[in-house]
Amino acid sequence: MNINEKISSIGVVPVIKLTNPERDAAPLAKALCEGGVPVAEVTFRAAGADKAIALMKKACPEMLVGAGTVLTTEQIDKAVAAGAEFIVTPGLDEELVVYCKEKNIPIYPGCTTPTDYHKAYKLGLEVLKFFPAEQSGGLSKIKAMSAPFPMFKVMPTGGISLKNLKEYISASVICACGGSYMVTADLIENQKWDEITDLCKQSVETVKEARNNG
Ligand code: 3PG
Repeated sequence: MNINEKISSIGVVPVIKLTNPERDAAPLAKALCEGGVPVAEVTFRAAGADKAIALMKKACPEMLVGAGTVLTTEQIDKAVAAGAEFIVTPGLDEELVVYCKEKNIPIYPGCTTPTDYHKAYKLGLEVLKFFPAEQSGGLSKIKAMSAPFPMFKVMPTGGISLKNLKEYISASVICACGGSYMVTADLIENQKWDEITDLCKQSVETVKEARNNG
């Protein structure tokens, strides 16, 4: 299985901001894996994201760990050196896409408009992040965009929770949904690892149900 396929088989990607990686990265990685979600997008919104990536990989080597909110090639270098296996960017930055392609690292840039999709097509991308999903038109916009651009699979992020996960993941254009609902600042700050595991299990169950019905 390649990385796109692995992410798609799990169906959800927790979007993580860790302010205290030394304390939280290892138990969080274990909580996610125990919940059946062995994948994480660790955002560079918090300093020390590279440290968090390295610590999560160390705690759960089988886990797929990527870097999110990546804005520069320097951050890509840092993330990859720490063990990141994929890169997520909030928007479509051609320089970053080309840089990742040269290094053979999957990159999922945020795209929400026909112009973004055009550029992504020219750049040879296959999977796009759709961000911020709910605020940009949600599933109906994603479906409308896939009429002229049926070649893309989409990973929506922004405003997704257990309330709308089933609706999103049921659509064949969606390969996985990103979100912070199972790894909120409150859950991490208060080290509620069991709750995180439970939210992951519910998410996996929802993905399974949606796919079995499809
Ligand atoms: C992201 O960076 O992908 C989003 O901020 C996550 O969105 P959410 O917090 O609404 O899930």
